[in-house]
Amino acid sequence: PSLSNVLNIHDFEYVARQILTPNALAYYTSAADDEVTLRENHNAYHRIFFNPKVLVDVSKVDLSTKFLGVPTSAPFYVSATALAKLGHEDGEISIARGTSKENITQMISTLASCSFDEIVDGSFIDGKQGSQWYQLYINTDRNLTETQIKHAEERGMNGLFITVDAPSLGHRERDMKMKFEAELDVDLNADDLETNQGASKALSSFIDPSVVWKDIEHIRTLTKLPIVIKGVQRKEDVLLAIQHGAQGVVLSNHGGRQLDFSKAPIEVLAEVMPLLREKQLDSKIEVYLDGGIRRGTDILKALCLGAKGVGLGRAFLYANSAYGENGVRKAIQLLKDELEMDMRLLGVTRIQDLDESFVDVSALKDR
Ligand code: FNR
Repeated sequence: PSLSNVLNIHDFEYVARQILTPNALAYYTSAADDEVTLRENHNAYHRIFFNPKVLVDVSKVDLSTKFLGVPTSAPFYVSATALAKLGHEDGEISIARGTSKENITQMISTLASCSFDEIVDGSFIDGKQGSQWYQLYINTDRNLTETQIKHAEERGMNGLFITVDAPSLGHRERDMKMKFEAELDVDLNADDLETNQGASKALSSFIDPSVVWKDIEHIRTLTKLPIVIKGVQRKEDVLLAIQHGAQGVVLSNHGGRQLDFSKAPIEVLAEVMPLLREKQLDSKIEVYLDGGIRRGTDILKALCLGAKGVGLGRAFLYANSAYGENGVRKAIQLLKDELEMDMRLLGVTRIQDLDESFVDVSALKDR
């Protein structure tokens, strides 16, 4: 289908399913065990309803906001995903170009399939660098981790997102059924890759399972970059993130790919924000969330409940696999169009005016 026929984010998945190799499809779509959390990430949004306000002048709607002090054209970002080259030859580079042209932030994975420098170079449009974050997996080789952090800082990253929900990679059977033979053009020691058990297993050998909060404090001393802890799944850990010097957290279960029966991040958000407000800590940390976001209404619900912004993983892998840079741009435009329309109908014109009065979460816990 031509790109002009793509009406929403679901359509990108439909197209991607036609064109991806079985290996790539298995790696992108897979989630842990019985994929209950994968489904719950979506389903939880279906239990939240709006309380729209009428007779508000909504002729002008402004989607812009700031992430970690840096302007963004809309309150969502492209989350880190490994191995974009499995789906499209330009890999993470076309994601960099598309996001930069739309003034959206891209989070670059430690396990990206293009080199970090190529992806950063790809974000320069007419000499202007796009907004990017570096996603860090803390390596068993801490010298390598320190080098990566320094390099991220030198190349103008706006944030360091440390992923902590993958001390070992989740059990993803759809992926495990595939023999992994992708060409890896990564900054990793390819000899170490265990390539006979699916892509995920092949990548997992680099992640240090012994990482604790003290390591976050140590990283805090190594860099001036804002630190955001990605993969927080309980409210108590948000308080610990503040105590250990993080500027932000991403409530995430890794798109359902880690511990099955982890709760939907939107449900965790609904527990986190009241606690932060009660302790008067809500201005001390930026709370992001990802997992299951496909619609403008999903984004809106998260923002009403107090998220600073939301990330999308698979949506952009599918858009990029199917149409490269143009697909990425179109996915961003579709989400912006939906969000703008939804805000208008909700009776709100600015992101900072959204609050919990606009959502009814009474059914959120009824699973
Ligand atoms: C991921 N995710 C991920 N996260 C991370 O911190 N580093 C990584 O390298 C990857 N790689 C990765 C690969 C693939 C194929 C997927 C689907 C996901 C997790 C990702 O950043 C994000 O948390 C989820 O994708 C969000 O869920 P949705 O948007 O895919 O539903």
